[in-house]
Amino acid sequence: MKDQFLINGLGGKRVLSGTVSIRGSKNAILPIMASSILFEHPISAENVPHIEDVSRMLELLEDLGAKNSQDSVKRTLLLFGNEVKKSFLNVEIAKRLRASIILSGPLLSRFKKVSFPYPGGCVIGKRPIDLFLQGFKKMGAKVSEKDDQFSLVAPNGLSGAEIFFKVQSVTATETFLMAAILASGKTVLRNVALEPEVESLALFLKENGAHIEGIGTTTLTVIGGGLLTQKKPYITIPDRIEAGSFLILGAITSNDLTIAHCNPNHLLSLIETLSECGVKLETGEDFIRVRGVKKIPEGQIQIRTHEYPGFPTDLQAPLAVFLTQLETESVIFETIFEGRLGYMEDLKQMGAHITVWDSQRALIKGKTPLKNRELYGPDIRAGLAYIIAAIVAKGTSVINNVYYIDRGYERIEERLSSIGVNITRTVGPQSKNIK
Ligand code: EPZ
Repeated sequence: MKDQFLINGLGGKRVLSGTVSIRGSKNAILPIMASSILFEHPISAENVPHIEDVSRMLELLEDLGAKNSQDSVKRTLLLFGNEVKKSFLNVEIAKRLRASIILSGPLLSRFKKVSFPYPGGCVIGKRPIDLFLQGFKKMGAKVSEKDDQFSLVAPNGLSGAEIFFKVQSVTATETFLMAAILASGKTVLRNVALEPEVESLALFLKENGAHIEGIGTTTLTVIGGGLLTQKKPYITIPDRIEAGSFLILGAITSNDLTIAHCNPNHLLSLIETLSECGVKLETGEDFIRVRGVKKIPEGQIQIRTHEYPGFPTDLQAPLAVFLTQLETESVIFETIFEGRLGYMEDLKQMGAHITVWDSQRALIKGKTPLKNRELYGPDIRAGLAYIIAAIVAKGTSVINNVYYIDRGYERIEERLSSIGVNITRTVGPQSKNIK
């Protein structure tokens, strides 16, 4: 039996209030964990979220030989990546975690060989790995593929190379940053991703002995050297997607909600968008307070997802729920992934007026009341959008595939309950209760 959420919706009322605390970023801690393979000693991290993807990454590392110890109360992690003995990724676990591919960089550069399956993860459209294979070839690796299993060898170790990424990719940037640490000579990475999680990894590696220049720009230069030594614990940066999702929830359902322990500077495009939509916001150094809607926007709202610092694809689905509640027309253009509008069909079934023009563009006409429904989250971010939609809707909704939500959000129901949401985690099936 799989966990489900039962949510008793607010029927459009603005009654949530209080403070929500944001946990450490999933997509920041995963590459830090992978980087433990580049260290001479165990590494320690703080503010580590208790989420399924972190557990999967720990299982993968354990399978390679790296023990770990976690303190669940203090949210700390000690990781013995220095004890990794082999470089063949466990196929079953790797297929469940797209981020498993980032292990290929440190493993290949340390062990001169690596093998991994085509990485799995969310169903959000085509997720190619051509940038990885081309980059490793440039660094001197030989690539072979059989039955969706990739084997890469570099008998003399990886060599520094000039790599231009034809598209900005978060995990490819992280992978090659790590691969270059133990490679011989200079690696220049051009058109790299600028996401805060990439910057956080680069700063961490540099603080602990890596020779990296250009952090915060689209060109990173790395001079290869030896294993790294940690000087102080890594403190996981706040999860900007979790913070943004709570902010969107607050914009629809609250007149006073504070999102605490976040970094507003990582959310400027969302803050700008919500302000344009008439939402009243206050920001401090590490919090954002949402104070309801002060005016109805004039004209059509245009949302175009973009690489950081543009509007994040991971907030596109939660924002769409907000747009169904806005008294105007909006157009969403998803530019990063092709299959990321699938959730809209369910929003339509809940009462939203949405016209999906093609696999990447849709028109939303607000404002429409939403009604309860049984939902199956197709991926982690759409799963969260369903939670928001269910909270806005009238009646009790059931959300299945809670596993996807647990992948990236730590016990989200507890934090939602604390601000007034009527949500319960149960073991299914509950659908007979839904009319
Ligand atoms: C990261 O995925 C995140 N995952 C994703 O979050 C996020 O949606 C995405 O970046 C975009 O912000 C992690 O950090 C673990 P990309 P990633 O490579 O790195 C194309 C979540 O739920 N591309 O930056 O896999 C690709 O098709 C996840 O937390 C190639 O063409 O995304 C896309 O169009 C979902 N060839 C574009 O790059 C490649 O070899 C950007 O994707 C690789 C990518």
